[in-house]
Amino acid sequence: MDLANEYLKHSTGIQYVVITSLLNEFENDVSKMKGTVMDIGCGPGNNTKNLILPKISNDAVIVGFDISKNMVDSARILNSDEKRLTFEQMSIETTELPSEYIERFDHGISFFCLHWIADLKCAFENIFKMLKPGGTFLSQHILLFNGYNGYLKLSENSKYREYLKDARRFITPLYFSKDPRGTLIKILQEVGFQVLHCSVREKITGYKSQNDRKELFEAVNPFVTRMPDDVKNDFMDNLIQETFKEETVLFRKNDNPLEEDKIFDLYKLIMLHIKKPCVP
Ligand SMILES: C[S@@+](CC[C@H](N)C(=O)[O-])C[C@H]1O[C@@H](n2cnc3c(N)ncnc32)[C@H](O)[C@@H]1O
Repeated sequence: MDLANEYLKHSTGIQYVVITSLLNEFENDVSKMKGTVMDIGCGPGNNTKNLILPKISNDAVIVGFDISKNMVDSARILNSDEKRLTFEQMSIETTELPSEYIERFDHGISFFCLHWIADLKCAFENIFKMLKPGGTFLSQHILLFNGYNGYLKLSENSKYREYLKDARRFITPLYFSKDPRGTLIKILQEVGFQVLHCSVREKITGYKSQNDRKELFEAVNPFVTRMPDDVKNDFMDNLIQETFKEETVLFRKNDNPLEEDKIFDLYKLIMLHIKKPCVP
């Protein structure tokens, strides 16, 4: 995803609520983050600056990484006044990790990003290499998103097939696992991490309006930037219709017939706190 402006428009939604509450829950650990901290999948860097930076040690600096040039460009412009923040374009799934990043980071954080990773082992191997011994990594990512089944269903529709050939690649492999927590812990342990915490949590979120929800689903959609506008609009309408079939989408009837029903999405999230052992 690289729609920086569209993503920023929804920055007070689920991202704000979830990141704030996790930073509070892990305040003890986050406040001890010193030195150089990496933020993987930093997006436009608004949450890096406004939510993460105030919680880590006063003298710590953050390097935000994002695969998207658009996101990195926006982050650099938006945060140009903040000397403790720099941003680099890099995929955490790279098979050619630049040597300058090896053991450069004291700690790491990642919010709302790792569900975009198809090869989790590769990403966590990179994170392991980037951390100094004893370094910790705190992350949260999505396990269940109400758009996932719509991606799969619409990838079979001839109108969208050419744009969604790789639809499965944009759904976390953990979504297809019978035991996502166990699968993830196994990967982490194989890489060499000590798992301090790993939990699956549920979060229900509402929206200002149904259109607001549609705009958010579009802002985080990996396929729409490939589509001409007419196909995109039709695809988004169909995707939203597909989401209404999910048991994890909830409606609350509005007594006022002039106002639309309220809509809520249930998300499943994976929360992770891991450590690179001091002695391998
Ligand atoms: C939903 S945004 C989250 C932004 C920010 N962390 C926040 O919580 O507001 C997810 C970001 O992850 C980035 N991303 C996706 N795949 C990535 C990868 N392989 N390596 C680095 N960043 C990635 C996307 O470009 C996007 O900016």
